[in-house]
Amino acid sequence: MAILVTGGGGYIGSHTVLRLLEQQEEVVVLDNFVNASPQALTRVAGLAGRAPHVIEGDVCDAALLTRLFATHRIDAVIHFAGLKAVGESVREPLAYYQVNLSGTLTLLAAMRAAGVHHLIFSSSATVYGQPEQVPLTEASRTGGTTNPYGTSKWMVEQVLRDLALAAPEMALVALRYFNPVGAHPSGRIGEDPRGTPNNLLPYIAQVAVGKLPSVTVFGNDYPTPDGTGVRDYIHVMDLADGHLQALRHSRDRTGFSVWNLGTGRGHSVLEMIDAFRRLSGRDIPYTLAPRRPGDIAECWSDPSRAAVDLKWSATRDLDDMIRDTWRWQSQNPQGYSSE
Ligand code: NAD
Ligand code: UFG
Repeated sequence: MAILVTGGGGYIGSHTVLRLLEQQEEVVVLDNFVNASPQALTRVAGLAGRAPHVIEGDVCDAALLTRLFATHRIDAVIHFAGLKAVGESVREPLAYYQVNLSGTLTLLAAMRAAGVHHLIFSSSATVYGQPEQVPLTEASRTGGTTNPYGTSKWMVEQVLRDLALAAPEMALVALRYFNPVGAHPSGRIGEDPRGTPNNLLPYIAQVAVGKLPSVTVFGNDYPTPDGTGVRDYIHVMDLADGHLQALRHSRDRTGFSVWNLGTGRGHSVLEMIDAFRRLSGRDIPYTLAPRRPGDIAECWSDPSRAAVDLKWSATRDLDDMIRDTWRWQSQNPQGYSSE
């Protein structure tokens, strides 16, 4: 039997595919490479010593999914495919609902028709909207999302909840990621954003390598210890391992489940810049600017439910995250087009 990984060419997907191959799983990747390079999977195969089966195609293509499930013996799906840029989602809401919501509905319908019962879905801490308090537990209020990207994730969670009631044979899991960062310790695979990065750590890394002149710190008047935003950064390898554990856990279970995947620790923007400077030995100039619209002061997880249920906890600390980001960025200054 094989595991279907949608969006397996992307940042989190490629690291998870590598871990699955290392665990001797058969992997089928479906990706249209709209936000990924096929190079990532070539490098994954090099690291694993074996390759996934790669299908280039769209998760919204119902006929393709039907064929895929008829051709490959799939028993579980990890569904990463989606669009994830918050600002772009405000400008292009239909594209975000089409891929993130409608794509997931199409996938779920094809799974049901093929009798595939296990799904792990990439949700996000964004479903908590403006947190009432931190740390966030899975029982914290969700909704109140402020952009189509966040709303699409929240909507899919509702769909999964409803489907689990109507289809009691299914095991549907939503993993709420906090802020994924870092790269494989080999420096061979990592995050390769198109254009100027939206997220803090890839931005800092591009300043460190000399591609961008300075970091803009969005707001230093938040009610946090140094006034800058606090987030729960989690190493992408820990996140990949969280998927393996969730898959193991859901194999002999049914129903809808949700877990936070975070470290339970928050770090401010200035702490991140300082740590990157210390670990890379590079100058990281920054300027202070007003708050970015839609940003929240702090967001960090209580990851204890995953520790108890999944026997999973993050094991890599902030220095590991930054060292591995820097290795990837310095060895691949142009991302996957570096070679
Ligand atoms: P990514 O953009 O690197 O990966 C997404 C992958 O999906 C890409 O390979 C892309 O080419 C593919 N894809 C997009 N639309 C597709 C379509 N219509 N059909 C087939 N493939 C398609 O993003 P990522 O950081 O690896 O995120 C993976 C998932 O995790 C996404 O669903 C994202 O929303 C979610 N997530 C990411 C973060 C984060 O900060 N990185 C946080 C929380 C949740
Ligand atoms: N920041 C800067 N300068 C930058 C980029 C970010 O100061 O150039 C700050 C932000 O204001 C925030 C922190 O760095 O305080 C982290 O910002 P990111 O953009 O890296 O991450 P966010 O927490 O804002 O966003 C992430 C995901 C989104 C998701 C959101 C909520 O990238 O997809 O978490 O879960 F919607």
